[in-house]
Amino acid sequence: MSNQPHYWAIVPAAGVGKRMLADRPKQYLPLRGQTVLEHTLSRLLSAKIADIASAEIFTAVVVAITDTDPYWPELDVSKHPRIVTAAGGKERADSVLSGLKHIRDRAAANDWVLVHDAARPCVTPADIQALIAQLQDDPVGGILALASHDTLKQVQNGRITASVDRSRVWRALTPQMFRYQLLTDALTQTAGNPAITDEASALELLGYKPAIVEGRPDNIKITRPEDLALATFYLEQQ
Ligand code: C5P
Repeated sequence: MSNQPHYWAIVPAAGVGKRMLADRPKQYLPLRGQTVLEHTLSRLLSAKIADIASAEIFTAVVVAITDTDPYWPELDVSKHPRIVTAAGGKERADSVLSGLKHIRDRAAANDWVLVHDAARPCVTPADIQALIAQLQDDPVGGILALASHDTLKQVQNGRITASVDRSRVWRALTPQMFRYQLLTDALTQTAGNPAITDEASALELLGYKPAIVEGRPDNIKITRPEDLALATFYLEQQ
């Protein structure tokens, strides 16, 4: 047995997506003939280690789903041999922790886990490979992020109170990549804290400094109705 760490993907897909104002959770909305979630999962399942066409990156892709979700069992991908279904939780962090616990008998402490939002269907293999290439020897791990090109303002009650130094502010994307045990410990210790809106924030709260790897601006999170048109455009361009 080699000591090389395995790579696992965890996809929290138990959100409701109220801001989409749709009749179903946003991960099941149609996008170029498939659901958003099918695009996301097919990108993760087909991701290959750079330059080795036969070497899939992920041992398994764990998808956290609400137990009353009627849409998931209808998708063919739910039966894929490398897809594992875990129970979703109340908040995003609960869904991720549930996914981690689901593979505790298969994952080693120093295996890498890449957490990726179900609602980010435009993630590219190059982005996943860049994240892994830059972080595989990192003691903490890190995230894809985007620099800010706009001037940023701090605002209170609709009035600007200060300008923020934009060189110091980045937008957090996914995947976010951390070691299995460190991520599990961080999410367990910070459970219930409303400030934990991504994996990195759980580690930051424990005093770690996750790295950033510059991502692509087309790795958008479907949040509002107009984002579907934008995602369609990006998928066609890619
Ligand atoms: O709502 P938001 O866009 O921030 O959700 C980010 C991701 O977290 C989505 O993929 C959503 O399905 C997931 N999520 C989850 N469990 C929750 C809430 C959100 O898996 N309780």
